[in-house]
Amino acid sequence: MTSSTIPILQAILSHLRSQPVGFHVPGHKMGRGLSGELGSWLGAAGRLDLTEIPGLDDLHAPTGAIREAQRLAADAFGAEETFFLINGSTAGNIAMVMAACSQNDTILVPRNLHKSVIHGLVLARALPAFYRPTVHPEFGIAGGVTVAEVERAVQEHPEAKALLITSPTYHGICSDLEAIGEVVHRAGMMLLVDEAHGAHFAFHERLPKTAMESGADLAVQSTHKLLGSLTQSSMLHVQGARVDRVRLRKRLQLMQSTSPSYLLMASLDCARHQMVTEGREMLERALAAAAAGAARLRDMHPLQLLDADDPLKWTIGVTGLGLSGTEAYDWLHGAGRMTLELSDPYNVLAVLSYADGPRQVERLLTALSKLPASGQPLAVPTAVEPPVGKRAIHLYEAFDLPSETVPLREAAGRVSAEMVIPYPPGIPLLMPGEEWTEDMVEYVEQLRAAGVRFSGAEDSAINTVQVIRRSAVSLIDWKE
Ligand SMILES: Cc1ncc(COP(=O)(O)O)c(C=O)c1O
Repeated sequence: MTSSTIPILQAILSHLRSQPVGFHVPGHKMGRGLSGELGSWLGAAGRLDLTEIPGLDDLHAPTGAIREAQRLAADAFGAEETFFLINGSTAGNIAMVMAACSQNDTILVPRNLHKSVIHGLVLARALPAFYRPTVHPEFGIAGGVTVAEVERAVQEHPEAKALLITSPTYHGICSDLEAIGEVVHRAGMMLLVDEAHGAHFAFHERLPKTAMESGADLAVQSTHKLLGSLTQSSMLHVQGARVDRVRLRKRLQLMQSTSPSYLLMASLDCARHQMVTEGREMLERALAAAAAGAARLRDMHPLQLLDADDPLKWTIGVTGLGLSGTEAYDWLHGAGRMTLELSDPYNVLAVLSYADGPRQVERLLTALSKLPASGQPLAVPTAVEPPVGKRAIHLYEAFDLPSETVPLREAAGRVSAEMVIPYPPGIPLLMPGEEWTEDMVEYVEQLRAAGVRFSGAEDSAINTVQVIRRSAVSLIDWKE
């Protein structure tokens, strides 16, 4: 088959053309039984929601249309082999960690890792050794990772099986994956890349190099985030001999439903087809509009635009207007009638994609130009090096042990049962299994007084925190 075919969609359509009467699941029977509302919104798409029946292949042991679609995706995205994911990059990150690590194996991970990587560490019962990303001095967000920091981490933990890195970041900042790959591979480790925000990179030369092009062993991409597949559909790419493919397939089976959605899989197939046939042209239009818009935005004082590696990610600093990012986001969502991707105390993030062009950029600029100035500029973030918790017990043990709620003031000396992540920069101060100290309690109190938001913790106001029960901690015999 050639790249102009769409094997999964074609297999579904060929099945439907045979006008079958279905005595199989799903129970809505090719859309016929869907509720009126859902049926009318989904329309013909309800008919595509099929299951593993003859001709439609099997995601977990593909020999037909799915195998072909994955092969075409591997060609398009520059991998040796590609796996379709119907549980997002979340499933891909977990499978990557579990493919690389067995119990008590060490893996180098960035301090600002995505939650799914933590869950991978817990399920693999692996030991994280953290390295730190840079913090952007003007925008206060986590940035890329330097090669020097990777060299330090590799030297400190030569026993590590792999290094996992997030590149690009949510804000479109990339690390030098080629140089990092050289360091990691020289040390006999695998390079795993959480490339959730980089699925579009393969399709335009003005976008950063992909992880596969840069020599990564495994890379996971949220096709649904920056390309046109349906939400929850992603891809995992692999190349080279370092990754045990049989082990990887088994881990993927652990993470994925035995009833994968054909709508999601067909959407991955179609997104790949769209990029191969017209992706460059669509991206050219979006990139041209983004470049022209960015030039204008840079003149819209006092707004500030982050110079990201991905020109389709606009992190816009709004503190010069006397507004917090969250206030700006809320104003844009209400009066501006547009919804941006996210906000933090200083910035908002607008995501552009191949589906955007001059009209959308114009609307965004118009709304940004109307943001109401509100008094004195707010203090800009200062790039302080925040403290990080000291590990008291293994992450995976901390996940299992009974916890209790204590007031923040009484947390010193206790072991955290949760993540405490000030945003920005989104780098956790504490992970499960790390110890609260007096200094950390004080630091968190200062951040709270400054209005910083927290994520990861049960009580997002951090009046109280979750800690492991003393009786449970004392039973653990932990050695660093
Ligand atoms: C860096 C990063 N990795 C992984 C994920 C998980 O991706 P998905 O939503 O496709 O499961 C996200 C989601 O936001 C993310 O930002």
